[in-house]
Amino acid sequence: MPTLNDLAASRTNLSDADVEWLHALVSDWQLLADLSFADLILWAPVRDEGGWLALAQMRPTTGPTSLQDDVVGTLAGPEDQRLLHVARDERRIWRESDPDWTNGVPVRTEGIPVTRAGRVIAVIERCTNLNSARTPSRLELTYLQGADDLARMVAEGTFPFAGEAAMLVRSPRVGDGLLRLGRSGRVTYASPNAQSAYRRLGLAADLIGAELAVITAGLSVSDEPLDESLMVVAAGRAPRSAEVDGNGSVVQLRAIPLIVGGTRTGALILVRDVTELRRRERELMTKDATIREIHHRVKNNLQTVAALLRLQARRLRAPEARAALDEAVRRVGSIAVVHETLSHAPDEVVDFDDIADRVAMMAGEVSAPEVRVVPKITGSFGLLSAAVATPLALVLTELLQNALQHGFPPAAKDSAVNHGAVNHGAANHGAANHGAANHGAAKDSANHGGLLEVIAVREAERLVVTVADNGVGLPDGFDLDSATSLGLQIVRTLVVSELGGRLRIVPRPDGGTEAVVDLPVGHE
Ligand SMILES: Nc1ncnc2c1ncn2[C@@H]1O[C@H](COP(=O)(O)OP(=O)(O)O)[C@@H](O)[C@H]1O
Ligand SMILES: [Mg+2]
Repeated sequence: MPTLNDLAASRTNLSDADVEWLHALVSDWQLLADLSFADLILWAPVRDEGGWLALAQMRPTTGPTSLQDDVVGTLAGPEDQRLLHVARDERRIWRESDPDWTNGVPVRTEGIPVTRAGRVIAVIERCTNLNSARTPSRLELTYLQGADDLARMVAEGTFPFAGEAAMLVRSPRVGDGLLRLGRSGRVTYASPNAQSAYRRLGLAADLIGAELAVITAGLSVSDEPLDESLMVVAAGRAPRSAEVDGNGSVVQLRAIPLIVGGTRTGALILVRDVTELRRRERELMTKDATIREIHHRVKNNLQTVAALLRLQARRLRAPEARAALDEAVRRVGSIAVVHETLSHAPDEVVDFDDIADRVAMMAGEVSAPEVRVVPKITGSFGLLSAAVATPLALVLTELLQNALQHGFPPAAKDSAVNHGAVNHGAANHGAANHGAANHGAAKDSANHGGLLEVIAVREAERLVVTVADNGVGLPDGFDLDSATSLGLQIVRTLVVSELGGRLRIVPRPDGGTEAVVDLPVGHE
């Protein structure tokens, strides 16, 4: 269905300010439809060819519709045109004397001119299905009277209210609860729902005849001595909304001051019990905040553990023992990165690309200074749940560590790559022909052509991560399945048992080593 904007721009002469006004009108005209028990159609004159175009339409939620079909985008028929012309030219609400029987039911039609800055820019056609006309109860009379006031305000250019801030939550509807205030701010009518809402706020007495601002202020538990905005709203003095918090309930009020022909006739107050809504919001907020706080503390604790291990490592003489503790520090560190990220995440899902960057940076830092291979990441990991992110961060740490430690061993740094050239001639040859490797070699001449790449390929429910290096390659007789060393055992356990994925560590076609992790991941 075409939008109001599209239709107005392509087929009418309405200015931007006019269209803005109509937007404000239709964002609020459910109220008019409900109070009128009637359908509304917004018509605007068509540019050049004449006639009227339907820009928008609203059905009542308080009664049956009289328009089975959508009319937006269609042109007005001759009957309707006459009504629209009269309403525009005479600048007043115009009612057809005889009901329209076109669709087999009697429908009363009225034209309400929409005035902005002294000009009629459009006309609302209000169609009331007379078949369903109710016995005129107090409720119906109050609604219709409110509708009349509102319609006159539309015609006078005082509704919609200029500059009323948009509601954050949806505006209360007539059916949520309605109060009518007289000129003095006293309640002259209270719908049963509105009465119940005030009872839940703790009101024992009847609302009728009470001064709403005074009663409401008495029920509010707000600490502020004079919640002014609430008072103004409850008095029906300003077109705004406010919330009353009392007796364990929260009630939203929205005031629609009625000023017709320059005279204040009172106000409509829409009333909605939002206790459940607010309670759920609060619950969610505290739950999220608690989880984030816990991640923050876990991160701090892990950093403390890492610091303790680092201290201990410094006191050790045996290089092997020091190295082992350093490795533990790195493992703890990579888990801390995940928790740090989770402590900022709105839910238990993290953008793993950030984590991968930081894990790679940490791994690069600990590589031997003479080697200084900087891991390069291509592709994207995407969003991952916390349950996948933590093991994966550890796996990535181990694989990068191995490439840096064993692929580019510092002691053999000059010979490492040179040996490679001798022992793996074919591999080196391949590297020379390989654009990317070549590029890396040119750029990283300081590290003797050391290439370390992480490639992530993410599909909806699958993630493949390759850690590739062009180092010295795996030792002879390397067998992943029988490897008993700690690093690869950790990797294998996490990938296969914990994440349900597959792991492959094989010689890279162009020389060096390639570790491929293939994981099933839920789509977040
Ligand atoms: N990228 C690699 N390049 C060369 N050798 C590797 C690579 N990754 C793993 N290896 C070999 O696999 C062995 C086992 O690795 P790991 O289980 O992490 O133990 P550690 O790193 O403590 O030696 C390493 O000692 C090394 O010989
Ligand atoms: Mg290792």
